[in-house]
Amino acid sequence: MTFFTKERKLLLAIESSCDETSVAVVEDGDQILANIVASQVNSHRRFGGVVPEVASRHHVEEITLCIEDALTEAAVKPEELSGVAVTYGPGLVGALLIGLSAAKAFAWAHDLPLIPVNHMAGHIYAANFVEPLEFPLMALLVSGGHTELVYMKETGSFEIIGETRDDAAGEAYDKVGRVLGLAYPSGKEIDELAHLGEDTYHFPRAMIKEANYDFSFSGLKSSFINTVHNAQQREVDLSVKDLAASFQASVIDVLVDKTIRACKEYPVKQLVVAGGVAANQGLRERLSETVSEELPNVKLIVPPLKLCGDNAAMIGAAAFVEAEKGHFADYYLNADPSLSFMTI
Ligand code: KG4
Ligand code: ZN
Repeated sequence: MTFFTKERKLLLAIESSCDETSVAVVEDGDQILANIVASQVNSHRRFGGVVPEVASRHHVEEITLCIEDALTEAAVKPEELSGVAVTYGPGLVGALLIGLSAAKAFAWAHDLPLIPVNHMAGHIYAANFVEPLEFPLMALLVSGGHTELVYMKETGSFEIIGETRDDAAGEAYDKVGRVLGLAYPSGKEIDELAHLGEDTYHFPRAMIKEANYDFSFSGLKSSFINTVHNAQQREVDLSVKDLAASFQASVIDVLVDKTIRACKEYPVKQLVVAGGVAANQGLRERLSETVSEELPNVKLIVPPLKLCGDNAAMIGAAAFVEAEKGHFADYYLNADPSLSFMTI
């Protein structure tokens, strides 16, 4: 029996786990009718990172406007909806609570079920807007807070087969960007600089030879910072383009090597790349070349740039699976800042 009984299968989705307030209306789990994203990045930039208290305050200001905008843009009335999906973790607790409170209030006011969604599952299901997910699949999740290889035997099932032991890939980009004096978040700018330089510094490729699927980026970050500080002390000029290219080459070598190995070991039909770092041009190029050379039977799916960063449409796509499985929440649903796939 399907959960959806109304004429159209429509969900409202709310995302507020970090520094984007986002509300979407999604139809059939694979069509975006509206995906409003209010980014706070300019407010956090001067602090060099996301300030949790500032993020919460922005979410409070934006959330109801985003809900109104999403419904208007989608031309959907609340009574046409079948449920309200909301991110309840992982993320910043104060930020999550704003989205949760708004979702509960909207669900209560319109007598709709509440569908709790794991933010990281949302990143993977963003690929469903590109083409239908086929299982089993492997997902490389690379964001500011996570770096994980996730094996999905079937829809709604997540097994982390490898993860970072220290920094996430996006976090490493942002930290080395800070050392170079770049604005936060610096992943995109380093990516652009990297395309203009060469891998001349040969930074370490941590754990690349190890048989597991875990990652480590803190040694690379230290090596990068030491190189820059030594040069500053000796008053030697370094090439920012070559530094960016060398850093990016190290990150990509490790991510691609382990991901390809995982796809050879597990019987996967698709490889999904998800999260903010999936926007990286160098990573997209290298993965597409390597997959077509070494994994002719695996389909690579990388969502378009606007769906790689945090957005509510991806939460709506993941919520369709949760709703069909009968996973709903009551009004006691709390934020879980360190939610993992184990508890979904
Ligand atoms: O998924 P996301 O939007 O937020 C989190 O849930 O963390 O990811 C943000 C991260 C930031 O660290 C940012 O620097 C990184 O994604 N990022 C990139 C690129 N665009 C964004 N990293 C590398 N290359 C890019 N083109
Ligand atoms: Zn994210």
